[in-house]
Amino acid sequence: MNRRKKIYEGKAKILYEGPEPGTLIQYFKDDATAFNAQKKAVLEGKGVLNNRISEYVMTRLNGIGVQNHFIKRLNLREQLIREVEIIPLEVVCRNIVAGSMAERFGLPEGQPLPRSIIEFYYKDDKLGDPLVTEEHITAFNWANTQEIDDILAMTLRVNDYLSGMFGAVGITLVDFKIEYGRLWEGDFARVILADEISPDSCRLWDATTNEKLDKDRFRRDMGGVIESYTEVARRLGIMKDMPRVIEGGVA
Ligand code: TMP
Repeated sequence: MNRRKKIYEGKAKILYEGPEPGTLIQYFKDDATAFNAQKKAVLEGKGVLNNRISEYVMTRLNGIGVQNHFIKRLNLREQLIREVEIIPLEVVCRNIVAGSMAERFGLPEGQPLPRSIIEFYYKDDKLGDPLVTEEHITAFNWANTQEIDDILAMTLRVNDYLSGMFGAVGITLVDFKIEYGRLWEGDFARVILADEISPDSCRLWDATTNEKLDKDRFRRDMGGVIESYTEVARRLGIMKDMPRVIEGGVA
């Protein structure tokens, strides 16, 4: 059994104490939830896929200077990360209308946006992660104006880079959600990217057919969730170092 100290358990991941101060181990569960955990399932192999996909994306982002919490992957389901103070915001960047934006403004899903739009949601499950403005963020001290500026700049950079990265393998990056944390260095806090970037947190559509290759397949009961995540990994060229992940088990 696991004797490590559990620091935090979320809906899809668990954080354990790391081997050195300032580090944590991020464990990817197979649990899938939607609509603030009203809908739940266990999708065998999802944790393994998201661990590997997030490793790949974070490593690529690190390569272009987008600092993030990823240090190294430890095994199929775990990665070593830097411990950060999570900023309680879900930062959503959208290129194409989908999901809650389609509902909020009565727009058709699939309509390209005239420019990328960044939204902030206050990370609080009890409140259902409400949409907030920069006024709320600074007034309630969730982040200061400099941190918001850094977050906006980094998010646009992530969007540009990932749109190109996925575009090159025939996938449209419709939108995504990322989270940031503060890395303390003495009295100075640097904002870096944290959490995960995977088909759980992105909308990814096949560029030719618009077929959904992301968690909307689970949210909307479309089936083929694991197959789609596997297809994303395959197109990114990272299936070769993966165990055979199939619906019903990891072979
Ligand atoms: P939304 O259209 O439902 O607001 O979702 C926007 C993006 O954020 C989409 O790529 C899915 C992702 N997302 C999460 O990662 N976690 C969440 O809890 C929600 C609601 C969305």
